[in-house]
Amino acid sequence: MPQIDHHKDAYRPATITKLELFENYLREWLPVFLKSSYYKEANIVDFFSGPGEDNLGKPGSPLRTLQTVKEFYDVSSLQDDFKQKRLNIIFNEASRKKCEQLKEAIKKFRDGNEISDYINIHIENKKFEDLFPEINPVIQEQFNLYFIDQSGLEHANQETFSELCRNKRTDFLLFLAASAANRFKDVAQKVLNLDDVTMNELESNSDFYQVHEILTNGFRRRAKEISPDFYIVPFSLKQVSNLYGVIFGSHNILGADKFLSSAWSISTDGSSNLDQDMIEKMKKKSEKQLSPGQSQLFAVDKLRAEQIKGEIYSAKINQLENKIEYYIQSSSTTNNLEVYKLTINSGFLPKHANELLLSLKNDCNLEFMKDGKKTRSPGIGYKQTKDGPTVEIIKNG
Ligand SMILES: C[S@@+](CC[C@H](N)C(=O)[O-])C[C@H]1O[C@@H](n2cnc3c(N)ncnc32)[C@H](O)[C@@H]1O
Repeated sequence: MPQIDHHKDAYRPATITKLELFENYLREWLPVFLKSSYYKEANIVDFFSGPGEDNLGKPGSPLRTLQTVKEFYDVSSLQDDFKQKRLNIIFNEASRKKCEQLKEAIKKFRDGNEISDYINIHIENKKFEDLFPEINPVIQEQFNLYFIDQSGLEHANQETFSELCRNKRTDFLLFLAASAANRFKDVAQKVLNLDDVTMNELESNSDFYQVHEILTNGFRRRAKEISPDFYIVPFSLKQVSNLYGVIFGSHNILGADKFLSSAWSISTDGSSNLDQDMIEKMKKKSEKQLSPGQSQLFAVDKLRAEQIKGEIYSAKINQLENKIEYYIQSSSTTNNLEVYKLTINSGFLPKHANELLLSLKNDCNLEFMKDGKKTRSPGIGYKQTKDGPTVEIIKNG
């Protein structure tokens, strides 16, 4: 499979979305560590760092990581947390030349930045396949965030993925060249050891956008063999005629919940850049009709962009509505914890499920019971369910 060099040109829109996804999740993950009374040490490991920025100076994952950490340090109420805890940030880049550029970019950041005194930055110049088995066994019991931003597929092999799922406190974002796996199915099967269900689904699938979800479902089955309560969330990235994807993994439902918040904050359906891709296509089509000097986008195009987003959002929310309705119809009683798990495993946020349950209340004749009394809220969310179910959802009649 061809390898692309992502740093000779400017980052493409799908790459920027991927980096934003990582950065947004880091913003959710970091305060969990800083505010935890349990975790004293944590590691952020960026296994495929690149040189730090693209050829236009746009920040890549290492500089985004440092900038985000600094933003938290600049909040004075968090400075003691930084001082009392140990945050290790490990950047790795296999290319010597890029690693030198990376060192330079990090040196620039460190100079004059007080935060550098309170975080431990390590820079490695190793191949992932050498570094991962070296450091993972040492830090696997700690609180970790791994960013595995490979270019192709090979480092999502069964051995590595299984190791990742065995780590109890590691959340990861694993990048996958999904359309390459679809195009070269036999190679992908060998490299990733895809199960028969995945292979059959890939063979019979005709929807390009579904490829990453199909692959992710295979990864989810594998993760659940290792730990039944493992959470896997996909995010698909279309770039011209290629489809890439990120697989998020965590043992913790709160991790998956927070990753989904990050995803929904940058995407209309919480699981892809389909909205950006469709709007981009629409813009290109209408730009062809522009004469020189005319404004970039007609008001009517802006309206159409909103319409596209609205259609994508409604179609997505319908999926959850169908799932919840089916779930409730097939069991006369359930509870807020079960619906919360269903919601997260389906790629939605608690607020979506709460809104849907409230709107289904009359149609499906539902009652929400808390401590033996009727309550108005279905109570879907992490806080409400972290110690077990607290609201019974009863279907009358
Ligand atoms: C997709 S890019 C990563 C982009 C980076 N996260 C950023 O924000 O710019 C993949 C990087 O991994 C490096 N690389 C390729 N093979 C590698 C390996 N086996 N181990 C570690 N790094 C590798 C490449 O030189 C490239 O810079």
